[in-house]
Amino acid sequence: MIIEPRIRGFICLTTHPKGCEQNVINQINYVKSKGAINGGKKALIIGASTGFGLASRITSAFGAGASTIGVYFEKPPAEGKPASAGWYNTAAFEKQAHEAGLYAKSINGDAFSDEIKQKTIDLIKADLGQVDLVIYSLASPRRTNPKTGITHNSVLKPIGEVFTNKTVDFHTGVVSEISINPANEEEIANTVAVMGGEDWQFWIDDLKKAGVLADGVLTVAYSYIGPAVTEKVYRKGTIGRAKDHLEATAKQINEQLKDINGKALVSVNKALVTQASSAIPVIPLYISLLYKIMKAEGIHEGCIEQMQRLFEQRLYTGGEMPTDEQGRVRVDDWEMRDDIQAQVAELWLQSTTETLPELGDLKGYKTDFLNLFGFDVPGVNYQEDVNEMVAVPGLV
Ligand code: NAI
Ligand code: NA
Repeated sequence: MIIEPRIRGFICLTTHPKGCEQNVINQINYVKSKGAINGGKKALIIGASTGFGLASRITSAFGAGASTIGVYFEKPPAEGKPASAGWYNTAAFEKQAHEAGLYAKSINGDAFSDEIKQKTIDLIKADLGQVDLVIYSLASPRRTNPKTGITHNSVLKPIGEVFTNKTVDFHTGVVSEISINPANEEEIANTVAVMGGEDWQFWIDDLKKAGVLADGVLTVAYSYIGPAVTEKVYRKGTIGRAKDHLEATAKQINEQLKDINGKALVSVNKALVTQASSAIPVIPLYISLLYKIMKAEGIHEGCIEQMQRLFEQRLYTGGEMPTDEQGRVRVDDWEMRDDIQAQVAELWLQSTTETLPELGDLKGYKTDFLNLFGFDVPGVNYQEDVNEMVAVPGLV
């Protein structure tokens, strides 16, 4: 069939298998072009189908030659109805990995559940014995805690006071002011329950107890800090509380892994267009200005450039891992450079519906957004019939 984008708000209802495949191939080629990384050889990636998790999996496999197990939650295709993008991404990844002689299997299901954790442990035991790298890269609006059975929903709200600032509808380019009411205590707690570190902790507890963590294992989760303009809704808001919790959990897990010479840490990544970040108010306007400036300076990166640099220049340097005072690895260093942020702050004030097409990189934002779903990818013929019924070969 011929598949076209059908956009509704922050998501695209359709996806393109060929476009998703091309995205994955482009990422693989990028990693290969940067040479070998002396990284983990048996990697578990939780949240492996899109965004930073997919890029981590690609970097592990095609940079470090790792066997990878990926856990994700994606919708398979049905006759006449395309799968979710992460499904096609995984199919494409596994095809490329297998062709390159690399072990790659995937588990599709709710990573927050005990069942999927057990399934993953069984697979590691059967196929790899142990893993020496565990990447935790989940982004979800809700989580059911398997111990309590309670389903928590996260919110993206400020804390303490109403937040009013500019935002952009990146489809129409209309810049407007939005006001978001502050979260109550329950909403804060729920957001921490979804995006904080508790589930990461549960994973490590179970993996360690099962004896599937190798001596010297490394586990990494992803966080974000960002600039002053987004602080009230991001880092000092509900999601920021969750990230504080995630970062505190890293310290806890780090202690827990000492007896097997393991290490846990958080990497603070750059703001990028992903399915998760498109839904956060104010962030798309910030990203469109940031992209413009970073591209002009020649320091723009996407998920794959970020993860390749994380692995090569932070996690697997062969020496000490460079961290900030809080023990976090930083690959948001270029985004947070004073000169970059000074320019963002200035353009922020000048941004209106009329000026943004000039000042910001709305076009880049839109392209990246469409790319997430496999559309607007160079080299793909969208007029050609495609078979939506793509299977994921190593799925268990
Ligand atoms: P994403 O939406 O691209 O990826 C989320 C992944 O989680 C997908 O593989 C999805 O299948 C999986 N997932 C979601 N719910 C699941 C469930 N219940 N069971 C199994 N898998 C599930 O998100 P993105 O942006 O790559 O985010 C990953 C991490 O990076 C998050 O912690 C996010 O806060 C962080 N981060 C994101 C930044 C951004 O600008 N996008 C910046 C810095 C950090
Ligand atoms: Na991810």
